Amino acid sequence: MSLKNRTILVTGAGGGLGRDIVLACGRAGAHVILSDYNKDLAKTSLAALESAGGTGEIRLADLSDPASIAALGASLDGPLHGLINNGAIATGIGGIGYRDIEIDVWDKVMQVNVRGTWLMIRACADALIASGSGRVVNLASDTALWGAQNLLAYTSSKGAVMAMTRSLAREMGPEGVGLTAIAPGIMTTESTEYVPEARHKLYETGRAVPGKQGTLEAAEVAAFLVSEPAITLTGQTLPVDHGFVFN
Ligand SMILES: NC(=O)c1ccc[n+]([C@@H]2O[C@H](COP(=O)([O-])OP(=O)(O)OC[C@H]3O[C@@H](n4cnc5c(N)ncnc54)[C@H](O)[C@@H]3O)[C@@H](O)[C@H]2O)c1
Repeated sequence: MSLKNRTILVTGAGGGLGRDIVLACGRAGAHVILSDYNKDLAKTSLAALESAGGTGEIRLADLSDPASIAALGASLDGPLHGLINNGAIATGIGGIGYRDIEIDVWDKVMQVNVRGTWLMIRACADALIASGSGRVVNLASDTALWGAQNLLAYTSSKGAVMAMTRSLAREMGPEGVGLTAIAPGIMTTESTEYVPEARHKLYETGRAVPGKQGTLEAAEVAAFLVSEPAITLTGQTLPVDHGFVFN
């Protein structure tokens, strides 16, 4: 699998999984555009990419702000071969029952995770089409497949991301663009430190391959899915969780 001569944009590039995705794309030979709203985190990821021998550049954008996303799309000055919608509100929204979620929190999660994903695809569409082999990978979560409790805004947002992937696969297929979603299981990143030990244990014992899951394999899968041959998987959601859920 090679991403040589491909330019790949990664959102949430400064985060736990985002950084590994940036590195995986770099290892495969891509030029990486790192986007985040946190400049310091993005810079740390770029430094890691460059010290591993890769090339990249930073373009900041706030996924909750349509104008910021449109500006990022307008700043693209060449074809874009892949967009990995990894940025999301994934931290600090769990452990709350459905009766107690605040409306503002619900709306913010939908704005960033759902609307932000749609707007990023829209903003990058022309550049993706121009590449002749544009691929989009949307980060969902297997929590939306098995029905994790006390996480409703997040699971609902990730269910929407899967639905969006299917519909856009049909709309953008004739334009030569393929889209997939990946649904990782719980990984050991900063964003999951708050998760109770019991939930970690549920995963560790329930996986076909028992034990913890890091970010490396999910990152490698995301990198593969922005390669040219991944077109054959368009519209699919792939659980990436060492066999915790099967579809
Ligand atoms: N960590 C897990 O176990 C897990 C499991 C399943 C799915 N996922 C998904 O993987 C992706 C990455 O997760 P993570 O654990 O690395 O999360 P994280 O919280 O470590 O990283 C999220 C990144 O998104 C950025 N971000 C957040 N809001 C933003 C905004 N408004 N504009 C621009 N950037 C913004 C953050 O700065 C951060 O760099 C998310 O989509 C998450 O839902 C994670």
